[in-house]
Amino acid sequence: MKKIQDFYFKKAKKEGFPARSVYKLKEAQERYGFLSQGQRVLELGAYPGSWTKYSAQLVGGKGRVVAVDLEAMGNLPGNVSFLRADIFEVDPLTLKGILSAFDVVLSDMAPKTSGVKEADHLRSIALAERAFYLAVELLNAGGSFFCKIFQGRDFPGFIKRCKIHFRFVKVVKPKSSRSESVEAFVLCTGFRQ
Ligand SMILES: C[S@@+](CC[C@H](N)C(=O)[O-])C[C@H]1O[C@@H](n2cnc3c(N)ncnc32)[C@H](O)[C@@H]1O
Repeated sequence: MKKIQDFYFKKAKKEGFPARSVYKLKEAQERYGFLSQGQRVLELGAYPGSWTKYSAQLVGGKGRVVAVDLEAMGNLPGNVSFLRADIFEVDPLTLKGILSAFDVVLSDMAPKTSGVKEADHLRSIALAERAFYLAVELLNAGGSFFCKIFQGRDFPGFIKRCKIHFRFVKVVKPKSSRSESVEAFVLCTGFRQ
């Protein structure tokens, strides 16, 4: 497994991405194609910026990415706006003030892990629920939501809630995500307003 991690780390370095996590988004995008030219994207948990760089390339000059993180980010592409904030303290109206609505909400947010599986799962669910709340508040009809989550007891309930608001819901486990990790991604498309 270490070999695979090293492979993605080196690949990211070579291709100019600050983190190997870019391949998790890239793999899902290449299979499901939910990002495209001209879209407006809200990206939660953006630091150090590999998803930001990749999605900014895909949406192009006519699109826009609004990236949010606790950590400061610099050196961003021209079509990216950055908000340094704790997502639990961000009012949807603040984001609406930057862009009135979004086509895609991405979340790669992860809690600081404690090593206690249940506690880490609950912190991850809280982040995913917050991302989901913002997606429901801010997405255009037909929009997409792609969100990281550490699987555990409350995972099925989260999927159930996603199915109320989206036509298509799929759990994605990218090859670049360690197979022994509880990390998974939930892809939701066809937002029903
Ligand atoms: C796995 S990293 C994201 C990597 C990023 N997608 C990339 O490709 O470069 C997770 C990020 O979530 C952010 N995060 C965690 N909790 C957050 C919160 N409450 N509000 C905003 N960002 C948060 C962390 O600061 C961290 O930068």
